Amino acid sequence: MQELLLHCRPGFEAEAAAEIQTLAAERGINGYVITRDGAAVVRFVCPETGDAERLMRRLDFRQLIFARQWALGSWLDVPAEDRISPIISACAAGPIASQLWLETADTNDGKALAALTKKLERPLHTALTKTRFVRPKNTEAPRLHVFFESGQRLFVGWSWADNAAAWPMGIPRLKFPREAPSRSTLKLEEAWHHFIPRDEWDSRLAPGMTAVDLGAAPGGWTWQLVNRHMKVTAVDNGPMARSLMDSGQVEHVQTDGYLFKPARPVQWMVCDIVDKPARSSALLARWLTRGWCREAIINFKLPMKQRYREVMQCLEHVEDALDAANIRAHIACKQLYTDREEVTCHVQILHAGSYKVQ
Ligand SMILES: C[S@@+](CC[C@H](N)C(=O)[O-])C[C@H]1O[C@@H](n2cnc3c(N)ncnc32)[C@H](O)[C@@H]1O
Repeated sequence: MQELLLHCRPGFEAEAAAEIQTLAAERGINGYVITRDGAAVVRFVCPETGDAERLMRRLDFRQLIFARQWALGSWLDVPAEDRISPIISACAAGPIASQLWLETADTNDGKALAALTKKLERPLHTALTKTRFVRPKNTEAPRLHVFFESGQRLFVGWSWADNAAAWPMGIPRLKFPREAPSRSTLKLEEAWHHFIPRDEWDSRLAPGMTAVDLGAAPGGWTWQLVNRHMKVTAVDNGPMARSLMDSGQVEHVQTDGYLFKPARPVQWMVCDIVDKPARSSALLARWLTRGWCREAIINFKLPMKQRYREVMQCLEHVEDALDAANIRAHIACKQLYTDREEVTCHVQILHAGSYKVQ
């Protein structure tokens, strides 16, 4: 197994490549990137045997901002008459898997392969369970990824559930709630799925908690908070959906989100204001260091150029502000599936030292 295959949003290959190269170099692991604009996948090839596996083990997948999913494996050419036999042979070189995921790139070319992957899924699964390379009862075992670059060229790889995305291609299947006033609602839901372990939802997204939604209108994000039975202050000069206001759980404050200060500290601050990333990160740092919220989710809208550098600068700014205030926090950032030219940042305060609310 010589390389890592990383999925990313089409158009963000350069960022995903720069990121994996930087993180590998920091860990002293040699490798090079193969990709092309719009491919929606990046290959990180390690010439030294065992290095790709070492890199995967030494890297926390959650550290990767631009990679939606990854797998460790190698490439395979398969004849159109029999694709299954070569895949079975390739599986002999890897670990036993718990399940099979058939994947393509998130591109039009990838979508064109859907009919083929659909046709192959059942016979391949049957063949893999018969040969016992896939054992569904081994829930601790890795997932087997069979990625189709074309009908003839495949990548066969593995990922481990505790260090990878929870969905094939890193794309969650979330259903748009019909009552929500905007499609943006899925962004906050996906962020929660990504940043908050499912068994912590009841304590960290609990009924009765208070939240502030900056740039809230028409209310897609507020809808998610209300759906968790929180009390929400929605800050936006624009109009909020009537259905949300009728819930009795929302106070609409028509003012500038940058000037708004909560009367009392809240559990959650969420922000979807479209602005320069430096302004958004300063806003986030202010809320955290002044003790106005315990957890926050904010979008950094990315400029056209230097997007990787810009995100790193934003995160550094937040980290420096928290350090200076003696606040220990968990900071994470991801380009979610529902994110377009943006990334989503999550911060949870773990220990606030001797700070007081200002
Ligand atoms: C992308 S929309 C938010 C969508 C919302 N999250 C949803 O799910 O429905 C951005 C919103 O930010 C608001 N906005 C822009 N600048 C703002 C500011 N300085 N203060 C408060 N709101 C602002 C806009 O009026 C707009 O409604």
